[in-house]
Amino acid sequence: MRFKNLFFDLWYRFGKPPWSIDQAQPDLIAAVEKGEVRGPTVLDVGCGDGNNAIYLAGRGFNVTGFDFSAKAISIAKQKASEEKADVTFFTLDALKIGDIDKRFDTVIDFGLFHNLSGDKRKQYVRALSNVCVRKGQFLMLCVADQAGEYPVYPNRYPPTTSQDDIRAYFSEGWKIEWIRLGVAKSSEKFDDYSAWLTSMTFTK
Ligand SMILES: C[S@@+](CC[C@H](N)C(=O)[O-])C[C@H]1O[C@@H](n2cnc3c(N)ncnc32)[C@H](O)[C@@H]1O
Repeated sequence: MRFKNLFFDLWYRFGKPPWSIDQAQPDLIAAVEKGEVRGPTVLDVGCGDGNNAIYLAGRGFNVTGFDFSAKAISIAKQKASEEKADVTFFTLDALKIGDIDKRFDTVIDFGLFHNLSGDKRKQYVRALSNVCVRKGQFLMLCVADQAGEYPVYPNRYPPTTSQDDIRAYFSEGWKIEWIRLGVAKSSEKFDDYSAWLTSMTFTK
């Protein structure tokens, strides 16, 4: 198990991760209520313990979610079964997302992209094009450069991301529809932090 995978897995095994808020992220709920999440098929990348995926399934989307933490996926499956939510969950490293033999109308990433370092971000963005239908949507929430000291981890990890970063990483094959300042909501012991919510369309 690589270090970063272990880091996340330990959060799920021995505590309640700050981002696990027992409900979907408010910015996702708001986007669904405004009709901004296209679907009907949705892939939730870095789905964690399943709150966003389970919420989307409850709103009628056909949802698949994956995460590289086996513990997160086992919690997500348990929650989905308790809530009678029909979601397909599996374990995968997002850098291998291109191995998924299916394309989705919408791909969501709430909190994964910002964990990747520069080269891995590029690799991930390239691979994303294998799982998105043409004119499909990518909806991403990542820690914003406005966030200041990132409260969850010390030493400003993960790196914060500016709008210019987002535009640069998604400059080929993606049309950025909008970027707005949102919030990544944390559980009560932790602060919330500013995050960019970006919706883009796969143009290839
Ligand atoms: C900040 S959490 C957000 C979880 C979930 N999206 C949510 O909003 O509750 C980031 C998630 O991405 C997962 N993750 C990070 N890097 C990953 C990678 N390379 N492949 C798959 N999952 C990854 C972590 O295990 C963690 O569950």
